[in-house]
Amino acid sequence: MDILFKNAQVFRNGVFVRSDALVSGGRLSLSCGEVPPASVADGRDICILPGFADVHVHLREPGFSYKETIRTGSMAAARGGYTTICPMPNLDPVPDDLDTLRQEMEIIERDAVIRVVPYGAITKGEKGEALADLDAMAPYVCAFSDDGRGVQSAEMMLTAMRKAKRLGKLIAAHCEDNSLLRGGYIHDGEYARAHGHRGICSESEWGPIERDARLAEKSGCAYHVCHVSSAESVEVIRRAKARGVDITCETAPHYLVLNDSMLQEDGRFKMNPPIRSEADRQALIAGILDGTVDMIATDHAPHSAEEKGRGLAGSLMGIVGLETAFPVLYTELVKTGVLPFEALVRLLTDNPRRRFGLDGEGGFTVFDLGADYTVDPAEFLTMGRATPFEGRRVFGRCLMTVCAGRVVWQDRLLEAL
Ligand code: DOR
Repeated sequence: MDILFKNAQVFRNGVFVRSDALVSGGRLSLSCGEVPPASVADGRDICILPGFADVHVHLREPGFSYKETIRTGSMAAARGGYTTICPMPNLDPVPDDLDTLRQEMEIIERDAVIRVVPYGAITKGEKGEALADLDAMAPYVCAFSDDGRGVQSAEMMLTAMRKAKRLGKLIAAHCEDNSLLRGGYIHDGEYARAHGHRGICSESEWGPIERDARLAEKSGCAYHVCHVSSAESVEVIRRAKARGVDITCETAPHYLVLNDSMLQEDGRFKMNPPIRSEADRQALIAGILDGTVDMIATDHAPHSAEEKGRGLAGSLMGIVGLETAFPVLYTELVKTGVLPFEALVRLLTDNPRRRFGLDGEGGFTVFDLGADYTVDPAEFLTMGRATPFEGRRVFGRCLMTVCAGRVVWQDRLLEAL
């Protein structure tokens, strides 16, 4: 459908400009004098952004298609404004050599509606015991990760970093020291104490980050920390950056918007790492503002209703995030004046793309910032339903996403304009 947005807010070369914007046949043109017949809409609340890139999602195929598929996960991403996503390798089989990686790539080729660039595992089967075939996978993957599990052995991590360095690839680490977990499953803080839950201490996260920052320094490897959730982790990364270590990190919307006083006895509040304290949340925001935190990823991790229906103690870890990330962040951080809008856009677009070598695919996404609504998981395209943002009022509805010239998402609201 052709539509002309009058006086829309368009993100161009790092800044917003006001312009008439014609979206026609999957293409965007600005300030068009003579336009073909098109519906004309008031663009004052419309913003047009480059397609987002999410370097941390779980698409569950091959192996766990009862939780999510590459088709449903990539459709959910398109509906969230994303045009590139990078799925983690905790699959069955784990992509740890060319043969297993090809199995995943064939499904991507067949079913993905946007650009999907997989991770390869760091170790065979993500077991931490033997190095995966990094050489063979390097040309096809965005980076190497054992996400879902921490690489426990420093020696194994150093070997992987040396290899990744030679291959010019990034190591993206899930940092978790198993020896400190002691059966914990939510943050070791006030809520856990008050409600008799076993806590996960922050050191299980920042300890391995500190170890890996040293190993990255030693090996010269480009190193990225997945889903940073604690204040100490931010500080460790800040100091490593100051020493000149080639280190970056991501955090996720739930760590930036929620704290453990908001937990409920419901599996939709359970993920790993856990939602931590208000001081941790503030430290993450400070980290974003001073450039210590480089990007925001969702850690979209769908599970079945049954797997998420066993309360805080019994549910599996992981929540969905692709369809709520932008509206939640825009509403809670930009509209409240905590974060400049341009900064949020960079955290979702340029920063991840540059670090992970993800070329733009010419995609863009159109949001109506004036549209407010209540997050309703029944409307999701992902097969996962568990989100701590259920019932939350947000601003910003994704009207359309275009990837490589193809309209991959179009909201029914657009028809009504
Ligand atoms: O909450 C999580 N879910 N954290 C992880 O590290 C893994 C992920 C998953 O695969 O479900």
